[in-house]
This record gives sequence, structure tokens and C-alpha cells, in this order.
Amino acid sequence: MTTTDADLEVRAATQQDLEWIYGLRHRVYAEELNQHAPTPSGQLRDGLDGDNVYLVVAAGETPIGFVSLTPPWAGRYGLDKYLTRDELPVLDSDGVFEVRILTVDPAWRGSGISTLLMYAALRWIASRGGRTIVAMGRADILDMYRAVGLVPTGRTVTSGAVDFEVMTASTSALTAMAGVPYRAILTTLEADVTWRLDAAFWPRSDGCEHGGASFSAIGTGFQTLQRRDEVVAADVLDAWFSPAPAVLATLTENPSWIARTSPPTDADGLIAAIASARTLPTDALTVGAGSSDLIFRAFGRWLTADSRVLLMDPGYGEYAHITERVIGCHVDRFRLYREDDWRIDPATLAAAVESGHYDLVVVVNPNNPTGRHAPATELRAVIEGSPEATRWWIDEAYLGYVDLAQSLADLAASDPRVVVCTSLSKMFALSGMRAAYVVAEPSVTADLRRWTPPWPVSLPAQLAAVAALSDPGYYHDCWQRTHELRAKMAAELAGLDDELVVDDGVSNFLNVVLPIEGPSAAEFVTACRRHDVYLRDLSPMSSQYEGRTVRIAVKDAEENARIVAACRRVLSAHRHA
Ligand SMILES: Cc1ncc(COP(=O)(O)O)c(C=O)c1O
Repeated sequence: MTTTDADLEVRAATQQDLEWIYGLRHRVYAEELNQHAPTPSGQLRDGLDGDNVYLVVAAGETPIGFVSLTPPWAGRYGLDKYLTRDELPVLDSDGVFEVRILTVDPAWRGSGISTLLMYAALRWIASRGGRTIVAMGRADILDMYRAVGLVPTGRTVTSGAVDFEVMTASTSALTAMAGVPYRAILTTLEADVTWRLDAAFWPRSDGCEHGGASFSAIGTGFQTLQRRDEVVAADVLDAWFSPAPAVLATLTENPSWIARTSPPTDADGLIAAIASARTLPTDALTVGAGSSDLIFRAFGRWLTADSRVLLMDPGYGEYAHITERVIGCHVDRFRLYREDDWRIDPATLAAAVESGHYDLVVVVNPNNPTGRHAPATELRAVIEGSPEATRWWIDEAYLGYVDLAQSLADLAASDPRVVVCTSLSKMFALSGMRAAYVVAEPSVTADLRRWTPPWPVSLPAQLAAVAALSDPGYYHDCWQRTHELRAKMAAELAGLDDELVVDDGVSNFLNVVLPIEGPSAAEFVTACRRHDVYLRDLSPMSSQYEGRTVRIAVKDAEENARIVAACRRVLSAHRHA
């Protein structure tokens, strides 16, 4: 049989598929390979079956191959039966998914089904924040595993009459292989196969999951702009409130002049306005077209592929993107735990920074996506005690929702190791404008300014930002009102299902952990889109989200009600499916 002969489908196993899987396992591992003793039921089950996820390839209605995945939240792996963690320490790393029992119906062997199953496993794992794959594969087909990028660890395991090799690879290395040497094969498979996984067939071309999918409904070519009033864009953390009245007045007063006029070259007036609003010296400031511009400019200048970087996990995805994927730095994760309420433990962080010899540590405070805030005093003490060679990047994009008095800007203005980045997007309702600033010691800002092109911030953005900063009272009220809106939405969401957990935060978003028996976060987000409600699936950001956590931005009362209604409908449809 060949893959082009049949209508192939890739799916997560159904209950019926599971019965077939246990039967095929018996045929192959008991009858054919003598790994296990045959059972009278003709079925072979596994102690991990309840925790494993099985992906299946079917030809028409008939399943023809499967692979078993054990996620980290199962709490144990199949390999634990054979090897201690000292023998296989990789199992103790973060975000490890185990791939086992890749099995193809004998009639379909050699037809590329295993490649398809391996790729499906990779996409499913990557979509759940998996960083490392550990695979237990039969030694007699080691070449096949090697060919897809898995690397033998040197550990072998014998079970019954079968020898297995333990192999590993990072999901990013396997994704890179899929994108180049396997691209042609996968493109052909994509055309032949009905892909029913909740993970997309292809990763995004830059490998980074950005927010902003709601623009796919509005149309990035702006042909259907009226859709902006129909779509609830709760997938990005843009402000739910309007910019201050003075901002709207200045932008509408003479749009023709604004559009055709070059802005002040170095944004001196904007810098002066920030200095005055934040009580900082002007030479401690540099501006950019959003923090993203500043992040790329600064990191591109400071870091190389030899640099060592520490990121919080979970944390804002763009930092991993630029450090790990764009620059190619060595990146470690400082793991935050749900059980600790996602708190950054200062002593543990201090020890990690001390021993890690990092060039850069990034802390987003309050953190996105955990929604937690680390008290400034704690963070300041860790920074002050950290090694001289370590630079700190503190991202305060959401600090206004907590208290601007918690800022580390004063420390940044005097300590060359510390930089504070503040976006005007979310706190000042200026996401579309693109304006942000960094606070740093003057020698650091001088260097960044040298590497800043002229006119880094557009004229509308400079005008809007200066006007916004002149009305702190307006924004303070908006930030306070955000807490009331969030609390109301949190209570309504919590009431939708006893098994749903609202993981509340301190700024303009909250997270929802979906019931274990409910839809996956990816399915949930897709289903909500049918109601024009856009939410963010957090699963690819960290395996701690277990594929069932969504982030929801706080919007105005009416839109929040639409969000709750969409969530209610989707959960209820799933219950009755
Ligand atoms: C923590 C954090 N930093 C920076 C940004 C990007 O902000 P900007 O619009 O200034 O580029 C975001 C956007 O979501 C964010 O969450």
C-alpha cells in the first residue's frame, strides 16, 4: 500500500481507535516480536494508557498506525520502568514528552506512515510547549529514527525479546529538520492527508507564536474593516479603553498635516514628556516604535550566539524568540510553578543567576502570561546582589495596573546593568501607534541612541504619547476600572463549569484552565472564533499549561459579556457532543 492510494487521516485516537490500538499492540508486540506474553483477550494494555495520548493515522475509516505520547503532566514516563533518573537525567528537564510504541499495521509498513506519525507527534508536542522529545524506539529500526533527527542517548533497554534505543532531540531541532530536508515530503503528505489534530500542520514561518490572530478576521489588507466592530479581540492585550481625550483631539485636529509631516528627528519632545511624567533625567531615556523595536535593537546589539540568557518560564514569547531563535543564544529557563502561584522566589532566582553566569536576565513584571507581580523590593535585592557581568532587562509593560511606584526605573537610570522597558501600548491605549521607552544609565542609552535610526517614532505616535502622558489621572481611573471588569468576568467564567479554574492576575488579562475532560485549549479557541471571540491558547508557551489554558484580555463590559457567552456555549456544546 502507498500513502497516495488512500484517504489518509491523522487524528487523536477515538475510543474505538483505542480498542484497535490495544489489539494491534498485541499482534505486533506479543505475537510478532515476543516482547510480551500473549494474553487471552488478544489485547495489550499499558499502565500509562490513562495518561497517554495516542495519535492515529487512518486510511478511510480504518486505523493503520499509531504513536503513543506521554506528556510531562502524566507525572511519570514509560522509560521510568527501565531506567532511573540518574541513568536518564533528561527526563527531569522541563517540557519533556516521551514518544513510544510507534506502530504501523504490517500491510502498511514502508509506506511513509511512520514519518507521518512522527511528524504528527512533533506538531502535537510543540503545540503543548514541549521542548524535548525522548523516544524509545526499536533498535532494529534505529536508522528510521535517526533519519528524522532523533539522536541515540547511548542507553538501551531490553524488554522481552526486543531491544530498544533511547533517543532524544529538541523540538526546535526537529522542527528545523521538518522545515528543510523534510519539507518536500511533508508538503506532499499535507496534500494527501486530512489533518484532524488541533495543532496546525505547519509551524508559523518564523517559529514564534505571536498574538493578534483577530486580525485574520478583520483582514490584514483592511478590506473588511467593519469587522473590527464585530470581533472581540481578547487574544492580544490591547487596552479596552480609549486613549485620553487629549490624544484623540490632537490626532483628529489636523490629520492631513500629521500624515505628511516628518516627526521631530530624535523625539526630543516625547523624551522630555516621559522624563517629566516619570521624574527621570532625559539622558536616561531612549524611545522606540514599541518595546518590540527596543528589544530587537538592544538585544541585537548586546547578545551573540555565545551569550547566556535566563528567561522566566512561562514568560512573554518574544523574548524566547529573539534570544533563542533569532540570535541563537544559549537560553535557560527559570521555572515558575502554578503550585507556587507562579511566584518568582527571590532566593532561588538569586542562586540561579549566581551559578548561571548569564549575560542577560529578563523579567517581565507583572509577568505575561502568568499575570503575577514580583514586589519591587524583592527584585531589587536580587539584582543588586547579582554578578557584575549580568545585565537585567525588566519589562514593565503592565506595571500601571499594579502601581507605577513599583518601578525599577530609578535603579535602571543609575546602574548600567539594569534596563527598564516600558511600552505605551497597553497601559496608554496606544498599541496601534507604536511607542515605548527604555530607562537606562546614560552611557547605555547613549549607545542605544547611536544605533537608533532617525525618526524612530512616527509623528502621530509622538503627538499621541505626549498628550497621553499629560493626563495621568485619566489612565489611573482606567487601570482601576480594569480590576473591576476583570473581577466580574472572572466570577462569571468560574460559574460556567465546576471543573474550570480561573487563574486570575493583576493586570488586564486572566487565564482560564479548562476542565480535563473538556476541549483542548486549541479546540476551545477555534470554537470561540466561530462566535467572533478571539482568545489566546497558551499551550505552545509552556508545557505547564497542559494544553488546556487560555488567556483572555479584559475588554469593556459588553465585550466581556460576549466572551463569557461564547465560553459558555463552547463548553456546553462540548458537554453535549
Ligand atoms: C510583556 C510585553 N512586553 C512587550 C510587549 C510588546 O509591546 P509593544 O507594543 O510596545 O511592542 C508585549 C505585548 O504583548 C508584552 O506583553
